[in-house]
Amino acid sequence: MSIRIMGTGSALPEKTVSNLELTKLVDTSDEWIRERTGIAQRHISTGETLVTLAAEACGRALENAGRDASQVELLLVATCSPERGIPCAACQVQRVLGAENAAAFDLNAACSGFLFALHTACAYVEAGIYQNALVAGGEVLSKIVDWTDRGTCILFGDGAGAVFVEKSGTGGILGFVQHSDGTRGDVLKCDSRALKNPYVELPMEAEFVQMDGREVFSFAVRQVPACIREVLTKTGVRAEEVDLFVLHQANRRILETIAKRLAVDMERFPMNLDRVGNMSSASIPVLLDELNRSGRLERGSRIVLAGFGAGLTYGACLVEW
Ligand code: UT7
Repeated sequence: MSIRIMGTGSALPEKTVSNLELTKLVDTSDEWIRERTGIAQRHISTGETLVTLAAEACGRALENAGRDASQVELLLVATCSPERGIPCAACQVQRVLGAENAAAFDLNAACSGFLFALHTACAYVEAGIYQNALVAGGEVLSKIVDWTDRGTCILFGDGAGAVFVEKSGTGGILGFVQHSDGTRGDVLKCDSRALKNPYVELPMEAEFVQMDGREVFSFAVRQVPACIREVLTKTGVRAEEVDLFVLHQANRRILETIAKRLAVDMERFPMNLDRVGNMSSASIPVLLDELNRSGRLERGSRIVLAGFGAGLTYGACLVEW
């Protein structure tokens, strides 16, 4: 492939909520949350929407790439917490940005959503259908989280991140792998609307996010190292030749276990989950943007992006910056 990430952007809600504040809502403690997850605070929307956050992140990615919204040919938004069933978030973002020449649609692969959307965009560009794409991952999970469930409400945060990708000469995105296991969908789920029409009314099963944390944990530490090895084998790169592993920010202990299994030092696993929590499809692009803007990504750096989440879905990608 010869598709390069030309610019990154992100946006977070203004309000931050500390672990201490959560102790007023559920029976938990700052110590428990930090020890078991590494999270100290998260950003929670008090008015920002998925569309305003994703549009802001996209605008910054375009600015960072030195491109205008009218140049965008494909606009993808990965999300599992859209504010509307229709129209899709990508079309609403398109309207805010004025990206009138883009084809726009959403994609939901939960926490792997951004990676799956990036892969989709690359396939379109690789096929010659479009020359470039704006790819965002955004969530307002705070509206689908059960704020009385201490097993989940302490984990998640709201935010959005985006990248602008374009066909280029060499380097860029070197390889992708992605997998899904629909047989294990029950370990992390959230129903949307129950079937209700003049002929039938069925009860809704899980209006809010429901999760078997231990199952998700063991899935992640088993499948993510395997799929990172798979993308490295596919591209002929060794783990020691990778500069940074930018992973979905779910839990510090998950990242530490993955690093150990790959025999890679934790220093090469940058983290922001302490400040932003688990933002599902926004996790990877927000972290990537922070690294980009702080100058940690040098031209030629090799970066592995890897995500995992509900579905179950998981994937990895190797990028030469
Ligand atoms: O993007 C993917 C999204 N999902 C994930 O990444 C989830 C992956 N899983 C995890 O991160 C961890 O499983 C959790 C952080 C969710 C939970 O940590 P754990 O070490 O697996 O705890 P546990 O579920 O085994 O629970 C241990 C104890 C239980 O009490 P008992 O039964 O031992 O008395 C829980 O009730 O901790 C209790 N507990 C809590 N205590 C204080 C669960 N949540 C909390 C809490 N505060 N917030």
